[in-house]
Amino acid sequence: MKKVLPWETFKNILKDKNILIGVTGGIAIYKVLSLVSSLVKEGANLKIIMTPDSQKFVSKMTFTSVGNCEVFTDPFEFEASIPHTTLSSWADVLVIAPATANTIAKIANGFADNLLTMTVLAFQKKKILVPAMNTRMYENPATLENIEKLRKLGWIILEPEEGRLACGDIGKGRYPENEKVLEVIKDCFIEREKVDNLPAIVTAGPTLEWIDTVRYISNPSSGKMGFAIAKELAKRGFEVSLISGPTHLTPYENLKEFVSIETADEMYREVLKRFEKTSLLVMTAAVADFKPAVRQTHKLKKENLEELSIKLVKNPDILKEISKIKKEQIVVGFAAESEDLLKNAKKKLEEKKLDLIVANDISRKDIGFSSDYNEVKFIYSNGKVEEIERSSKEYIAYVIGNKLVDIFNAKL
Ligand code: CTP
Repeated sequence: MKKVLPWETFKNILKDKNILIGVTGGIAIYKVLSLVSSLVKEGANLKIIMTPDSQKFVSKMTFTSVGNCEVFTDPFEFEASIPHTTLSSWADVLVIAPATANTIAKIANGFADNLLTMTVLAFQKKKILVPAMNTRMYENPATLENIEKLRKLGWIILEPEEGRLACGDIGKGRYPENEKVLEVIKDCFIEREKVDNLPAIVTAGPTLEWIDTVRYISNPSSGKMGFAIAKELAKRGFEVSLISGPTHLTPYENLKEFVSIETADEMYREVLKRFEKTSLLVMTAAVADFKPAVRQTHKLKKENLEELSIKLVKNPDILKEISKIKKEQIVVGFAAESEDLLKNAKKKLEEKKLDLIVANDISRKDIGFSSDYNEVKFIYSNGKVEEIERSSKEYIAYVIGNKLVDIFNAKL
């Protein structure tokens, strides 16, 4: 059983960590300046190595200023310590960003012809590669083979993104969002206990219940909690199907599938289709309890109408329906409460035959619905209650992921 990191540690996970950045000569180098700046804000200790070509794009002084750190360029320019061995022992993590096809080819084949490649050869801890280049260079079988080789050698590879490249071409090769790079660096310091490819369903977001062709009833759920849980479970080895109502979020790329729905009926259908074969269902979705009895097939006109009453009928209670067919599956619900939090959440836990319910107070403005933060209580089917202090939804997802892996591992 892995101990859960406390919120204070999780939030400051890069503080005082030694991170070595290797910079090579690609146009995406200007984006790495902003990565370096974010790492400084996170409290990391940085050292940077620039290849000779990279200095034709950005000067050593720029990286020294932004990173507020030492920048190394020449293996033969040192006073007391030998730079490549000293740097490789100093760092906890090495990140090469941007990584050009040339540097990738060299390190895949064990070359040591500049300070960066020499340091790589002597480095034995976690290594992250962020390739960024022209699509044709990236898709060249030689480059793809070199990247694959590095993956097999234990490198963590961040796939480049598709889009418009500096040369005007459109395709794969773009430097990914720094937020993603930062997350991968943070993950190097967060140990996660894993399961072996267990299928899981996560629901997220609001549902829309249509009145006519342009109007609907909904709620302000942002989907953040569900998307964070889906990502966390995928990182822990679950094969995640994320079924979500409309949100502004981009699903994590390593999910098994992303299913987009609008109504509660559609969500129910998609959950039901997969439930028999799943090991886990986490219902974070804010499912609308009622829908208009009739969905008008045209836009309602206000002419001749002084008031309008819309008859609503009940939507299926997905968790209640699922409780009737549940066998070995672990089912987790969420409870959005504005009063009597514990009492109401316990009632839902029993009525919906849940293994765990995560309850939060929706009357508070600083947590819940559209916020990035939440404060929750875990209530288990055996009556145990645990509290998580106000923290980010990513952290709450991390704690939930930890608990769920414990539950599955205890079953083995
Ligand atoms: N839920 C569901 N189907 C619904 C409504 C809710 O499966 N039609 C799920 C939610 O995804 C959540 C749990 O049931 O995991 C509790 O949802 P919540 O909105 O807190 O409570 P309700 O059961 O809808 O009851 P009420 O709105 O009366 O508090």
